[in-house]
Amino acid sequence: MSITEVPAWKKLAAHVPEVRKTHLRELLKDAARSKSMIAEHDGIILDFSRQNATAMTMNLLIELAKEANVPGKIKAMARGDKINTTENRSVLHVALRAQKGEKIVVDGVDVVAEVHKVQRQIKSLSDAVRSGKWKGATGKKLTDVVAIGIGGSYLGPEFVAEAIRNDPAAAKAAVGRRLHFLANVDPTDSARALEGFDPATTLVVVISKTFTTAETMLNARTVRAWLVAKLGEKAVAKHMIAVSTNLKEVAAFGIDPKNAIGFWDWVGGRYSVTSAVGLVPLALQYGWTAVSKFLAGAHAIDRHLLEAPIEKNLPILLGLFGVWNSSFLGHHTRALLPYSQALLKLAPHIQQVDMESNGKRVALDGSVIPFQTGEIDFGEPGTNGQHSFYQLVHQGRVVPADFIGFRKSQTPVALKGEVVSNHDELMANFFAQPDALAFGKTAAELKAENVDESLIPHKEFPGNRPSNVLLLNQLTPYAVGQLLALYEHRTAVQGFIWGLNSFDQWGVELGKVLAKQVRTQLSASRSKKKAPVAGFNPSTTALLERYLAK
Ligand code: F6P
Repeated sequence: MSITEVPAWKKLAAHVPEVRKTHLRELLKDAARSKSMIAEHDGIILDFSRQNATAMTMNLLIELAKEANVPGKIKAMARGDKINTTENRSVLHVALRAQKGEKIVVDGVDVVAEVHKVQRQIKSLSDAVRSGKWKGATGKKLTDVVAIGIGGSYLGPEFVAEAIRNDPAAAKAAVGRRLHFLANVDPTDSARALEGFDPATTLVVVISKTFTTAETMLNARTVRAWLVAKLGEKAVAKHMIAVSTNLKEVAAFGIDPKNAIGFWDWVGGRYSVTSAVGLVPLALQYGWTAVSKFLAGAHAIDRHLLEAPIEKNLPILLGLFGVWNSSFLGHHTRALLPYSQALLKLAPHIQQVDMESNGKRVALDGSVIPFQTGEIDFGEPGTNGQHSFYQLVHQGRVVPADFIGFRKSQTPVALKGEVVSNHDELMANFFAQPDALAFGKTAAELKAENVDESLIPHKEFPGNRPSNVLLLNQLTPYAVGQLLALYEHRTAVQGFIWGLNSFDQWGVELGKVLAKQVRTQLSASRSKKKAPVAGFNPSTTALLERYLAK
């Protein structure tokens, strides 16, 4: 049965006109409402009072979560049921941060014990490299790491690496070390990733769940050629390691499987940051202490997801507003606006987590979903976003936004003679923007300010634009883990409500197949035979001919 058939969905649809009659300017006058629309957990404050929602909306959304069996589906995920039905797989990223002694059994195997075994392996590998016990082919310490991977094997690790880069303890642990990521198959990306690096002091980590991803494998061969050119073929054993579920392909590539760290098919690519995919590069750069705090933060939100009642459950609330804004109010985009430069890679990571997960056209049973699913996620750290796309957000389209801010900076600066610290300046914007979106500015207010009549329509702000405000203490590795899990689970909750499979990604396949056909053509056309372009439609044929022309 489609979710549109359940009573709460129908009631919410009927409730929309009532909500459309309200304006946040009025709703936010109600102190009791504001107080009731705050949820707090483990240092995270979520204020959702700027959502276009009344007490009735909240009741109906909670009813919807129950009728969609969100709590039951969360439990099924966490106990390892094979909820990724099109790939017949469990979805167990929560097991990656489960604590010692917890037990989750999949196909007769306690996966938590497996996870901890691999974590010990990562710790000892990273300790050996960081201490210099593991030396390069010339006997030098390996101080630099190039992590090669794409999609889920890149976006999450880079998000976390950037987020903790200026955490004082993590920064201290990273002194003298460098970590670069290489994802794009564009040779400019490999040139940039290797810039300033010396093969003799570089460890290359090839990260790929399948170890067959074309971009990653070509990049791995490119970097291997760079290593071998200077150090010789034998150096590969000391300078290249792998993270993969496909140890056969790792060996075929020429990396010694004893230098490979495994993970499991129940870890989805975009949900793999807390597996070896993220932990290996992060532990090499920042050491195990930072990594274990990051894991603890993610685990704390996993527990919260499983234990907190719906009305206080942060990821469920975030997911419910995602559904409300997109499926009922018709807002198909949403913005992630961290007031933290260190979170510059949050939006790119969550784009994959959310859009690859929920951008689907059919329900779990294969029936076409009678409404649009998935949202277009984008974002940029404040205040940079303010000077870029906020114009549209204030006076153009309605884009529900999440504002994420911190009480303390990772790197505080307070200049003599300035009225506020640099962090307070940043946060002044953080507190102002959600209100500017919600309240707007009326023609009457502009008139009272003696604004020229002809400019009043241009300076008017309609307001009534929804947002969430997330306020945390400080961007520590623990908080990064919390944020990661919060957004992973928000996506899952939305998928559970929409009744789709948030854990497969068939939509990425077609383009890959066509690229293979183009690759074969380019190779044949550039060979001595100079094969003519054939087998494509007229437009692509003409474009390829132009591309290949001398
Ligand atoms: O973009 C498609 C995808 O399959 C992602 O889901 C995955 O994270 C990425 O490719 C990389 O895959 P792999 O880790 O197997 O190289």
